Amino acid sequence: REEIVKIALDGPAGAGKSTVAKEVAKKLQMTYVDSGAMYRCVTFLAIKNHVAMQDEPGLFKLAKAMQLMFIPSEHGQGVQLDGVDVTDAIRTPEVGALVPLVANHALVRECLVEKQREIAHTAYHVVMDGRDIGTHVLPDATVKVYLTATLDVRAKRRHEELVRQGFTGTVSDVMKLLHERDEIDGRREIAPMRPASDAVILDTSCLAIHEVTAMVVSLCQARMHNEVSH
Ligand code: CDP
Ligand code: CDP
Repeated sequence: REEIVKIALDGPAGAGKSTVAKEVAKKLQMTYVDSGAMYRCVTFLAIKNHVAMQDEPGLFKLAKAMQLMFIPSEHGQGVQLDGVDVTDAIRTPEVGALVPLVANHALVRECLVEKQREIAHTAYHVVMDGRDIGTHVLPDATVKVYLTATLDVRAKRRHEELVRQGFTGTVSDVMKLLHERDEIDGRREIAPMRPASDAVILDTSCLAIHEVTAMVVSLCQARMHNEVSH
């Protein structure tokens, strides 16, 4: 009897969730579901269609109607929205600054959580990253890991990435953006960012990607072994 494995990876921006999730997915042959990309897609559509960030029914309509697909690519995974590749377009600082406002609305969250659970249900083995995966989306996940790192380290990591995409701001600009986003994500009333009571908390400030990946993989294997021997 083979257990279906669901891994929940949560934590603040720049903690390494998506990079580690992609590696774990490759190693364990799991589907990677990027829940943050779904919130980013709604934000991207709102900007494009001039829907205000306070317009909850308007945002809900966009969330409900959007057709989102995760497409495997050489860099791990791309995002296709209504047939268009938006992998890079949803990662701009503009989308990053507005996405927590969109993610604050109950209707938007309910709609996206339903889509996330549906994907997890259909996809067999799944690693999903986000903010509320262990606490809310997949409360029965096999393994829950909450990745953190100091704000300083996270801002440096994200700054390097943005510079590669042509960003000209400083590390402290990025730090300010990340800090604001963490505050809103941590304080919202519905499904705020926080570790589940049964999550393993991992500070990645001084860890390389392959070390974090190895830890998540071994947690997963230990859990699977446990389930089999019971
Ligand atoms: O990659 P990064 O950590 O910068 O962010 P992300 O995972 O793409 O998520 C972007 C934003 O979406 C977060 O800052 C949250 O506001 C929202 N989000 C959420 O509310 N719940 C999730 N499960 C995932 C993302
Ligand atoms: O998804 P999240 O926002 O949590 O972080 P990420 O996008 O996976 O990681 C942000 C950047 O930090 C990427 O460029 C990673 O390669 C880098 N990183 C790192 O250098 N060391 C780690 N232990 C984790 C991530």
